[in-house]
Amino acid sequence: MKHSLFAAAIYLLVGPACLAAPLVQNPHAREGISLDGEWARIVDPYENGYYNHRFEPHEQGYFSNLKQQTPSELIEYNFASSPRLQVPGDWNTQEQALFFYEGTVWYQRDFSLQKRPGRKYLIHFGAVNYAAIVFVNGRLVGRHEGGFTPFQFDVSDQLVDGENFVVVKADNRRERDNVPTVNTDWWNYGGITRSVRILDVPAHHLSDYALFLGENGRVKGWAQVTGPAGELGLRIADLGVNQVVEIDHQGRGQISLDVKPNTWSPDTPVLYDIRLEYNGEIVKDRIGFRKIEVAGPEILLNGRPMFLKGISLHEEKPDGDGRAWSEAHARRLLGWVKELGANFVRLAHYPHNENMLRVADELGLLVWSEIPVYWTVDFADTRVFAKAETQLSEMISRDRNRASVVLWSIANETPAGTDRLEFLTRLADTARKLDPTRLVTAALDTQSDTGGGKLIDDPLSSVVDVIGINSYCGWYGGTPESCANMAWHSKYGKPVIMSEFGAGALRGNHGPADHRWTEEYQAAVYRYNLEMIDRITFLRGMAPWILKDFRSPRRPLPGIQDYWNRKGLLSETGEKKASWQLLRTYYEKRAGSSP
Ligand code: GCU
Repeated sequence: MKHSLFAAAIYLLVGPACLAAPLVQNPHAREGISLDGEWARIVDPYENGYYNHRFEPHEQGYFSNLKQQTPSELIEYNFASSPRLQVPGDWNTQEQALFFYEGTVWYQRDFSLQKRPGRKYLIHFGAVNYAAIVFVNGRLVGRHEGGFTPFQFDVSDQLVDGENFVVVKADNRRERDNVPTVNTDWWNYGGITRSVRILDVPAHHLSDYALFLGENGRVKGWAQVTGPAGELGLRIADLGVNQVVEIDHQGRGQISLDVKPNTWSPDTPVLYDIRLEYNGEIVKDRIGFRKIEVAGPEILLNGRPMFLKGISLHEEKPDGDGRAWSEAHARRLLGWVKELGANFVRLAHYPHNENMLRVADELGLLVWSEIPVYWTVDFADTRVFAKAETQLSEMISRDRNRASVVLWSIANETPAGTDRLEFLTRLADTARKLDPTRLVTAALDTQSDTGGGKLIDDPLSSVVDVIGINSYCGWYGGTPESCANMAWHSKYGKPVIMSEFGAGALRGNHGPADHRWTEEYQAAVYRYNLEMIDRITFLRGMAPWILKDFRSPRRPLPGIQDYWNRKGLLSETGEKKASWQLLRTYYEKRAGSSP
């Protein structure tokens, strides 16, 4: 509640300039400067840098970046002499004192820039968890809520030639009316967790574009510019395309090419070099063309029935804890996924950094991408819906050209109810309006018990294209052996993915297979669940929980968990447990291109 009243106050104070500008497509392909590196930080649990002692916004809070001018002047903060934090990066794993910290941290850095006439300057953030308020040269430029999606603000008017500074108020407090809400089974890593750039684009520039495979196997798409009617150049050399796209008076250009590209797939991850030119700006991208659809109980990739052999994973560094953000992190994590023999990865439970999607494009991994409508968000609150919808649209806007993304997930383990069903139905509608080329899914855990087995009967199943089922047979109920004979039934003639199953084990902890936390127990759960899976005739994919152990405040068991969720096939530092080889052998035997 506090955030939204706060937001309203901010909006009234500064007007539309405060709201995020529409996202520029493919920001890393634009001219500009990086603001990654060392930033000064001030830890501010009482938000003293924003409010005075009467809880009124300061006129000159920390965002003014004041410096003492005379020996008698009283200023009780100084970024220049404050400690530093690396950006990108969560604060929790950079300073031991911040490991559990939830609250505000102020970030500040100086940068120099020479403005050019006829240009626009946008400050672009890959993500800040959870809420960000951004100031440039002491002036408020905007605020954003949502910890895993990009945002940007037009700072052309606030920048000066020469020396500038930016201040960010990052606040990772959990709130009941946030998305996610107060309870999650992952670490609440706070801070500027992804890259920051100042984009330098023409005043009239190519703001957005989409290229995809059309109905007849030919390339279709659209482009959106911020300028008047005109022409856009489109070149795809490997397809012999070099043509002009007409831009209409709304700045929109329709693309329809009479070329049939080689389709992208896990076996053939073909990416085409794309070159777009508008108003003197050249934007390059690498895009794969493929078609994903459902037909009855089948998932069809380029018309062929698929079985998605996957694994779930959180966005944590491969060598321990902390938010992953770099291309190297992505290559290591997804390299493990490929080594497992998987063709599919569930990026849980929030949009991962863009490097993960671009590396998945390259390696040929199908991706389930997800917004953190997780567990018991407040489905009755229209503001919560708006937050979820904003995060969904930001995720789709950023990744609409990534061939690897085939599934947009709108929820994980949300409790059945009328408010929830209406909330998620509307969210699914938004996903389909924003992107009719992909499938909508959700992970459900509300199956009914029936005759010694499970019946998939959650009404949300009628809304999604592909049903995800989370089932922890042998861990949160039943013995591992009991899973082998568990039968599954579905009321819906549509594809089902086992989006989670698994068990915890401390790597290197060995003992009898009925002793919790041993690698043998985890392997038994996998063995009997795989027998169960082989008997589910309508199953078209699986994403066992989870690639590697990950940090969670819900897992304190001393000597075993120590605030790690131990359901990984790998330890937190990437050491393999017995179940790794068991699943790898299973995937070697199981074909990926047909059920
Ligand atoms: C749930 C949930 C995960 C969680 C897992 C677990 O299914 O979706 O986020 O980590 O179970 O209990 O380990």
